[in-house]
Amino acid sequence: MLPASKKAESSEQCPLTIDSVAKHFGGITAVDGVSLSAGAGEVVGVIGPNGSGKSTLFSLAAGGQKPDSGSIRLSGVDVTGWPTWKIARAGISRTFQIPSLFINMTVRDNMLAAAVEGDWQGAQDRMTRTVEMLEISHVVDNLASELSGGQQKLVEFGRVCMRNPKVILLDEVTAGVHPNIRKIILGAIQQLRETGITFLVIEHDMEMVKEICDRLIVMDQGRIVAEGDFQTIANDINVQQAYLGRA
Ligand SMILES: Nc1ncnc2c1ncn2[C@@H]1O[C@H](COP(=O)(O)OP(=O)(O)OP(=O)(O)O)[C@@H](O)[C@H]1O
Ligand SMILES: [Mg+2]
Repeated sequence: MLPASKKAESSEQCPLTIDSVAKHFGGITAVDGVSLSAGAGEVVGVIGPNGSGKSTLFSLAAGGQKPDSGSIRLSGVDVTGWPTWKIARAGISRTFQIPSLFINMTVRDNMLAAAVEGDWQGAQDRMTRTVEMLEISHVVDNLASELSGGQQKLVEFGRVCMRNPKVILLDEVTAGVHPNIRKIILGAIQQLRETGITFLVIEHDMEMVKEICDRLIVMDQGRIVAEGDFQTIANDINVQQAYLGRA
C-alpha cells in the first residue's frame, strides 16, 4: 500500500484525473459522468459487470474515443479528445481486452513499433529490460502469431511498457492466462508501480484485484456505484446488487 502522503496528491499533481466524462453510442449510455483520479505509483482496480462501461472509460482516457462531455487530465494537462498517438506520447497507454498485435511481425518488431508511438530514445535497451521482466526473451524472434494466448497478453503489456508511460491502463490483462503468466504480470505491475507508474486495472479476477489494487472503483450501467478498499467493496450493497441482480 502507498503512504498516505502519496494518496493525498491534489488533482493538479495527479498523474490521471478524469472529470465527469460521458460517452453515448446512439441510444446507449456507455459512460455516464465518471470522475476519478489516481496518484503516482497507485494501482486502482476498475470492476463491474459486463457492459458496465469499463473498456469505454479506458478508450476515453487513452484517446480511442472522444468523450461527449467531461475532461481527462494528465499531470494537470488537459488531454481531452487528443488522438491516441498524442496521448501515448504524453504518457497514457492502454492494453486491449483482445491483444492488438501485428501478428505477422516478430515479438521484437512488435515491441519496437510500439516505442515509435511513445519514446523512441533508448528503445532497444527498454525492449531488452521489458522482455526480461515479462520473461519472453526466449520468443523475441518468434512471430506474434506463433505465441500462445498468454504470451500474446505479455507482449500486449510489453508494448505498453515500450511507450514509457506515466499511466498504464490494463484491460483484463490476466483473463484466461495460466497462473504462471498471471504471476509474471503481477510481478511486473509491482515492479513498475515502484518506479511511480500509475495503473488503472480492469479485472474480473477478484483474487488478483485483492492482491494488487490499493483501492477499487465499481462501475454499473456507466456509473461509479461504489469506491473503496477491497473489504469495503465486498460488503457494499450496490456492488452486490450490480453483480448478483437488482432488487
Ligand atoms: N463502439 C461501440 N459502439 C456501440 N456500442 C458500444 C461501443 N463500445 C461499447 N459499446 C456499448 O457500451 C456499453 C459498455 O461497453 P464496454 O465495452 O465499455 O463494457 P465493459 O464494462 O468493458 O464490459 P466487459 O466486462 O464485457 O468487457 C455496452 O452496452 C456496449 O455494448
Ligand atoms: Mg471491457
